[in-house]
Amino acid sequence: MSDATVDPSRRTWLALTAGVGAVGGVATAVPFVASFAPSERAKAAGAPVRVDISTLQPGEKLTVEWRGKPVWIMRRTPEQLASLEKVEGDLADPNSDRTQYPTPDYAKNRHRSIKEEVLVAVGICSHLGCSPIDKFQPGAQPSLPDNWPGGFLCPCHGSTFDFAGRVFSNKPAPDNLEVPPHIYLSDTELLIGEDKQA
Ligand code: FES
Repeated sequence: MSDATVDPSRRTWLALTAGVGAVGGVATAVPFVASFAPSERAKAAGAPVRVDISTLQPGEKLTVEWRGKPVWIMRRTPEQLASLEKVEGDLADPNSDRTQYPTPDYAKNRHRSIKEEVLVAVGICSHLGCSPIDKFQPGAQPSLPDNWPGGFLCPCHGSTFDFAGRVFSNKPAPDNLEVPPHIYLSDTELLIGEDKQA
C-alpha cells in the first residue's frame, strides 16, 4: 500500500469526529436534563456556522465543522478556475445533475459556487466517506495521471475530484462532493448550513 493510505488529514478528521461522538455519549447519559432543555452543545451541533473569509488568500483552503462534517472553503486562483473547463470531458457529472447529493441551484454552474472563486463543499468522498486530500499541484505525480490538472484525491480507493469537487469518470466515487446550503452574510462572511436570510 502507498503512503496515501495513512493520510494524516483523514486521521485528524476521524480523531475529531471521535471526540464529538464521545461528548454526545456523555450528553445522553443525563436524559432528563436533555429532554427539558437541549444542551448548548447539541444546538451547536446542528446550527449554521459563520465563517470569516476575509483573510483567505487565492489558493488557500480552510476547513470548518458543520453537523459533524468537514466543510471546505477554498479561494481558487484564476489558473485553478481555468482548469474547470478543460477537464469537463473527463468528469462523471460535469453539470451536477445527479440527485444523490443535490447541488443547490445557486451552485449548479461550472464552478459550483455562488462567488466564482470561492468553493464551499463538504470534504467527504461519495464512495465510502473518506476525506479527500489536497492535490493542488498540477502535473504527473504518484497516484495521479500524468495530465493531472490539480484538485483533490481520495486516498482510500483513488477517486479524484476537480477544483469544483466534481468527480472524475471511472472512479469508485459515484458523485460529486456535496455543496452544503450556504449564503453570504456580507462580502467576507459566510453562513454554512442555511441559504435563506432570517
Ligand atoms: S472512500 Fe473515496 S474512493 Fe473510496
